[in-house]
Amino acid sequence: MDNYAVIGKPIHHSMSPFLHNAHFEQQDDAAYYTAYEVDLSELEQTVDAFKTLKVRGWNVTVPHKIAIMPFLDELSEEAARIGAVNTVVQVDGKLIGYNTDSRGYLNALLSMTGQSLKEMNVLVVGAGGASRAVVYGLMDYGVTNLSVTNRTALKIEEMQRDFIEVGTVNSLTFAKANECLEQFDLVINTTSIGLNGEDLDFLASSKLKEGVYLSDLIYNPEITTWLSTNKHKARAIQNGLGMFVEQAALAYEYWTGKRADRPVMENLVKRKLG
Ligand code: ATR
Repeated sequence: MDNYAVIGKPIHHSMSPFLHNAHFEQQDDAAYYTAYEVDLSELEQTVDAFKTLKVRGWNVTVPHKIAIMPFLDELSEEAARIGAVNTVVQVDGKLIGYNTDSRGYLNALLSMTGQSLKEMNVLVVGAGGASRAVVYGLMDYGVTNLSVTNRTALKIEEMQRDFIEVGTVNSLTFAKANECLEQFDLVINTTSIGLNGEDLDFLASSKLKEGVYLSDLIYNPEITTWLSTNKHKARAIQNGLGMFVEQAALAYEYWTGKRADRPVMENLVKRKLG
């Protein structure tokens, strides 16, 4: 039996144990995935325990995505640039850190936009950990018209500095983003605003371009207030479900070397969310 896990705090809301275990079963894998609530002060001990117990792979979520990095032997280029790890693979006692959020988001986004994404003028709202994965994914894909707006400008400056070898982003205040909102072909919400029904009220809906693509990383609620309010103007809207499934599928592929069954994963999550 191969063991897998997710560590975070809080962790009880995580859908990953359900998703991976159901998918393992469907794939006939002799594997089990467990959620552990781990305090930051217990992180190093937990990593040591996973080494001793030969846990083959694990996901890392809030608040450990950055803190885990010093305990790993190697980082993928994207994990190093993004500055966060959400997937660890253990091979012969060596720990390798990946970030599957970035490619996970990009794959999901491409299913909405198609390859025209490259030519789009894109606005990313937020500059936290999730935003860094999204922005890295977009830059790496070749999007060059990229702006980020955030309440705290300093976080955009950090992103600009860390990604300098990959690409450039324009930094916009909320006011500036509003002024030029109608220029954007794609607007992406990476903030947590909408998890509890709130709207992105600092963005003026009336200024969104007719035929804009709207993307939100939140998938529970299925449709945020921002997406439902602006749906009538959009060519297409997308929630974060595709990204959640893709990042899990990519983690499975890093761990097992086998291809994940994405349609099965998507149906599992949809059924669970009801
Ligand atoms: P995650 O890993 O989910 O991205 P995070 O790193 O804490 O979480 O980032 C949260 C993002 O949501 C940040 O961009 C944050 O803005 P600040 O950098 O100014 O803190 C943004 N955010 C959260 N709540 C917000 C609010 N009420 N208004 C504006 N921005 C908000």
